[in-house]
Formats: sequence, structure tokens, C-alpha cells
Amino acid sequence: MPELLEMPGNGQPALQDLAVALDSRIDGCMNRRRAAHSRSVADLAAGLCLRNGLDPLAGSVAGLAHDLCKEFDRAMQEGLARAWAQRSGVGQRISSLLGGALMHGPAAAELLASEYGLEDRDILEAVAFHTVGAPGMGALAQIVYAADKLEPGRRHVDAAFRESCLELPPDELFSEVLSDSVRWLLKEGLPIEEGSLAMYHAMRKRKPKP
Ligand SMILES: [Fe+2]
Ligand SMILES: [Fe+2]
Repeated sequence: MPELLEMPGNGQPALQDLAVALDSRIDGCMNRRRAAHSRSVADLAAGLCLRNGLDPLAGSVAGLAHDLCKEFDRAMQEGLARAWAQRSGVGQRISSLLGGALMHGPAAAELLASEYGLEDRDILEAVAFHTVGAPGMGALAQIVYAADKLEPGRRHVDAAFRESCLELPPDELFSEVLSDSVRWLLKEGLPIEEGSLAMYHAMRKRKPKP
């Protein structure tokens, strides 16, 4: 159980306190490499938030929390993810993730809401959909999705591609990164989550031909 956090008066933990609590929790529930990845996503997301006029602490919290449940056993992840589907009202988007490797996103959103009392919808959305994205998701979620794929520890990411992406506003950043990962999965012949593939095709339709 998390330590009790000071509430600022609106029933939610202060983001600074939550970031500190998550930073100390992640070492106990994931391997060192994943903990380093989580901190790196948090740093990159915080920087992108600053650049785009969002609260960098929201980026830090979402980054630190996004893979929090990845090493939980399957049954625990699924229980949390199902609870998130009920709580959030986005059950349809979540249902395709249940039972697979991608349900750790909605599971972590549920953990933030149920154990820490977090109510910030933007952070919860960012954590829930960091693996696959969702149509119409907000700027913070777009940033966290991209930071997860672009953080400097991801050594297969081309440095020039990373740099060019980081200059983009969140919606274009998300579009570039999602398209890049779908193209890579197609090239490798790996399975692609159906919602991500649908967004990829919709983005390609919208994008003017060069
Ligand atoms: Fe993840
Ligand atoms: Fe991650």
C-alpha cells in the first residue's frame, strides 16, 4: 500500500508528493532497467509538457506510473484493468487489451485512482493509453505515448527522428510516433493492436501527400 499523501484540499494528492511517492515505489516493483526507463519517460514527458505549456509535474507523474503494473502477475493486472474499464467508462477501448501484454496501462491508471486517490483525468488517460493511444486523447496523453517510445534509453530509435519529433506540437508528435511504430511492426511482421492500426490508417488519410 502507498504511504498516505497530503491532500491539497480537493481530495487529490499534490502532484509533487505523488511524484516522490512513485519514484520511491518503482524500485520495489520492477527491475532496474524498467525503473530507469520509467524515470527517463518521466523526464522527457516533463520537458515536453514545459515546452507545450502543460504542467511538467503531470508529465513526471504519468511517466513514473505508466509501467508500474507491468511486472504484476497477469490476474492482478487484469483485475485492475477491468476495474479501470468500469471506472472510466472507456470499457470498449480497454476490452481489446484485456488478457494481453498491453493491459498494464489501464491497470496502472486504476492503481493511481484507487490507491492514491488521483482524479486528474489527463494523467489517468495518459497512463491508461500509453501503449496503444486512443482517438481524441489529450495533449498530455499524446506526449506520454511519444515519450515512452522516444526516451533516450530506446537505443533503436534514430537520433535524427527523435530530435525532429521533439520539436512538434503534441498532436503531430503523437501522429509521427504512432505511424513510426506501426510501420516498424508491419515491417517486422508483428501483431498490431487493432485500435492503433485504425488510428494509423485514419492519420494517413488525413495527411496531405508531399
Ligand atoms: Fe508500458
Ligand atoms: Fe514504458
